[in-house]
Amino acid sequence: MAEIKNDNPTAAKAMDDRMEKIISLCKRRGFIYPASEIYGGFANAFDFGPLGSQLKKNLKDLWWRRFVTEREDIVGLDSAIIQNPKAWVASGHVGSFSDPLVECKKCHQRFRADHLEEFENWFREIAIKTGVGAVNLTDEQKKMKVCPIDRHGHDFAEAKEFNLMFKTFVGVTEDSVSTAYLRPETAQGIFLSFKNVIQSTRIKPPFGIAQIGKAFRNEITPGNYIFRTREFEQGEIEFFIKPTTEESEKWYKLWLDEWMKFFLDLGIKKDNLTIREHAKEELSHYSSGTSDIEYSFPFGVSELAGVAQRTDFDLSQHEKHSGQDLKYFDEATGEKYVPFVVEPTMGIDRAMLACLVDAYDESDGTDGRQAGEVTMRLSAKLAPIKVAVFPLVKKEGLPEIAHGIATELRGLGIEAFYDESGSVGRRYRRQDEIGTPWCITVDFDSLADKTVTLRDRDTMKQERVAIKEINDLIISKLK
Ligand code: GAP
Repeated sequence: MAEIKNDNPTAAKAMDDRMEKIISLCKRRGFIYPASEIYGGFANAFDFGPLGSQLKKNLKDLWWRRFVTEREDIVGLDSAIIQNPKAWVASGHVGSFSDPLVECKKCHQRFRADHLEEFENWFREIAIKTGVGAVNLTDEQKKMKVCPIDRHGHDFAEAKEFNLMFKTFVGVTEDSVSTAYLRPETAQGIFLSFKNVIQSTRIKPPFGIAQIGKAFRNEITPGNYIFRTREFEQGEIEFFIKPTTEESEKWYKLWLDEWMKFFLDLGIKKDNLTIREHAKEELSHYSSGTSDIEYSFPFGVSELAGVAQRTDFDLSQHEKHSGQDLKYFDEATGEKYVPFVVEPTMGIDRAMLACLVDAYDESDGTDGRQAGEVTMRLSAKLAPIKVAVFPLVKKEGLPEIAHGIATELRGLGIEAFYDESGSVGRRYRRQDEIGTPWCITVDFDSLADKTVTLRDRDTMKQERVAIKEINDLIISKLK
């Protein structure tokens, strides 16, 4: 099979100016780097840098705390990435986890058929509006599909189904018997551990098992930065309930609400979020009803998360294929049943991208900042650095006091950053650009009255606070 080189035909239209600026900031300041860059990169793979890895960790910690630690009805799990391959036959992924693939007969590049259609509609629209591109199409070509590579009409081969699971071999032989898969979703690991979890925890429906972890899909057209990659993280909950449509509908609505609240609490603006219910023909093989929570990314409104009614599909399939009894037995009532499942799922990388896009605020020069200055208005809970501490000058004991404040904050688990280079104004701007909510400046008055200046990123207001009160103040602000 020829290498799939084109990583996203829609990417060309997608990357608007704002997105380009965010990508550039993320690289420059250490949020997200292109992976394998010293080898020329590796299509659509990314590394999360010092700030990005902390931001992602903060997001996952908030998720875990909210949906596992703070709830009595949900337990956590960290399942294997490579499972028994029979599991993927049972789940339907070997048979039907595929996308339609088409090949351009001229350049032999391969594309997702639905993305090609999307590209084509966009291309024709632009061509009609601007005249650009249309001049290159002959009448004959205009009737053909447009190849996203050279934007000419070409012939395409019939669509073929392309399975998205990454294959690997387990053990020393490389044959069909040793073939295994990297998980394409974290969900199945939860179903495989269902029996163990109910036995070891004695938890009763309605209850959930939650997991955050990597998933892998050999996407035909990844792209739009970290929106669609081949290696990504999911945060999923399989929520087990009594097997009735009413219960399923009830929990489906509740989980849509919970998911929405989580995104709003991350600081994402309400206007940028929408719920879209899937049409019947769009539903995955396991779902009797799904809604996506979509976000208005700069490249278009796209899926951020979803909630699906998976019925008893997965557990029943695993019962059939494993020969194990995966029913829940209610000792109190004597009932025995395969629970229905409502599944709230979200892409951690997509949630992170939505937070970054939402937080990006470039000044037009009318708000007290200089035109072009960027403030990342990340919620304090998410910000990779909570407090930056500066000595006004690098002498007379000010650095020691500033270091002491930063060290104490770090000791309390609060990410603090010490910076002594450049003017204080420049230091503020550097911190605004990465979303640090508070800056503390130690000056000459600090020597005499043991106070410092605390500056707020969003209001840009400055107040004097006693050094001994800083820790409590920051802790209370973070709450
Ligand atoms: N267990 C159900 C499931 O996996 P999905 O809609 O295929 O459902 C869930 O994926 C979430 O994972 C999506 O809402 C999206 O946020 C994220 N996701 C899916 N494919 C992705 C990719 N290639 N890159 C980044 N995130 C992805």
